[in-house]
Amino acid sequence: MTLDRSLHSADWNGTGKRPEDAFLATLMETLRRDGRRLCNTLVSELDALGPARHSWTPSTQPVVARLDACLAQGPKETGYLRGAIATMKPLLHWERAPGNPNSKNGQTEFHYRHAFCTLVGEEARVPTSRLRVGLLLIGAHSFYPLHAHAADEIYLPLSGTATMQIGPTPPKVRGPGKCLLIPGNTPHAIWTGNHLVLLAWAWLGDIQGPFRYLS
Ligand SMILES: [Fe+2]
Repeated sequence: MTLDRSLHSADWNGTGKRPEDAFLATLMETLRRDGRRLCNTLVSELDALGPARHSWTPSTQPVVARLDACLAQGPKETGYLRGAIATMKPLLHWERAPGNPNSKNGQTEFHYRHAFCTLVGEEARVPTSRLRVGLLLIGAHSFYPLHAHAADEIYLPLSGTATMQIGPTPPKVRGPGKCLLIPGNTPHAIWTGNHLVLLAWAWLGDIQGPFRYLS
């Protein structure tokens, strides 16, 4: 589906809503519809966020040059979230995760072909020390190596199809629109195909706990 012009120009200003609030409100609707326990926990945490905001500190990464392609494609279910991201696009602080020290001293293709931003978190636009919520953009034909962290995680793929491994079950092809739950310390990995992949992610629980690469 091509993103409607009305969504792309996302008249959030007309509603008086800040763009990050429009994004989070739409994310919460998606989580409520899912209804699983971890999704409901995230809804409660998001509901309890205060009105304080840090300043936006925009920064970009090479793969973000292709973000528009991701925002223009995806199912109807993710259209409003993609529209809210389009509105925030000039404001987002994109960075790259530390490289995997087990491979090429961290100088892997994935390292140069991904970017993430954090919208909710300690130093993020929406401040809290209880959880993190953000976006992850991965270029085509890339491999986000197997990794695990203490925090529980929710992925919500928004655009693009990827093969994902979550836990001991064989990798599966996942399209956008449905939440994926990753309990703390569960190994997970992502292989992208011919298209970029954009997903929303959230960390809950032990967000200060260790993160480790496993491959
Ligand atoms: Fe993760």
